[in-house]
Amino acid sequence: MKTLLRMLACLLLLVALAALAVVAWARHAGGFSARTTPSALETALARYTRSLAIPGSAKSLQNPIADSPLVQHDAMAHYADHCASCHANDGSGDTMYGKGLYPKPPDLRLAATQNLSDGELFFIIQNGVRLTGMPAFGSPGDEGADSWKLVRFIRHLPKITPTEVEEMNGMNPKGPDELQEEKQEQEFLNGAPAAK
Ligand code: HEC
Repeated sequence: MKTLLRMLACLLLLVALAALAVVAWARHAGGFSARTTPSALETALARYTRSLAIPGSAKSLQNPIADSPLVQHDAMAHYADHCASCHANDGSGDTMYGKGLYPKPPDLRLAATQNLSDGELFFIIQNGVRLTGMPAFGSPGDEGADSWKLVRFIRHLPKITPTEVEEMNGMNPKGPDELQEEKQEQEFLNGAPAAK
């Protein structure tokens, strides 16, 4: 009985010490701030765990949507509307939301993303990534044609041109201020007196 109590006390002490260590580490690592960037070790571990969580059968899926200028254009518009707020039109992740997330969205043009298989990219877009800002865009029973098109567009991102990025600027979601400004510009062009 005594030994059991002693063992329990030791266990409690260990748990308390571990909790203290976690608090000390979290403070040292910038508390709960999402402004900091995960260490290389944390990123490597998270990516490895994410890779383990994607079923092999999903990783080896082939993209059923053939590439074409129309598919690229559809996906570009979809990406500009749904993804660019975090990932940026050029895929760099250099946006207000992107910079404030923990983990940050990776630069989609770089090898770490481009070396993922089409199936992995599709799985991530459809299911999202838990405990990160990456939302799930698929819904049960949906075959994910839009996501497969987005995979085609992600493959194009390393070659994206400034002209394409400029075109996407016009496709990004607009806030009420921008819409109001556009309305006033249009009214001005139509000959209405300029708003003060
Ligand atoms: C609210 C912010 C946000 C939005 C919107 C968003 N993402 Fe993400 N995305 C993230 C974050 C954060 C990660 C990093 C996840 C991780 O570390 O595992 C990520 C990761 C990814 C990855 C994995 C890249 C890699 O190398 O790990 C792909 C692919 C991706 N996003 C595609 C998209 C697409 C396509 C859309 C639009 C349909 C989109 N995302 C919309 C935040 C976002």
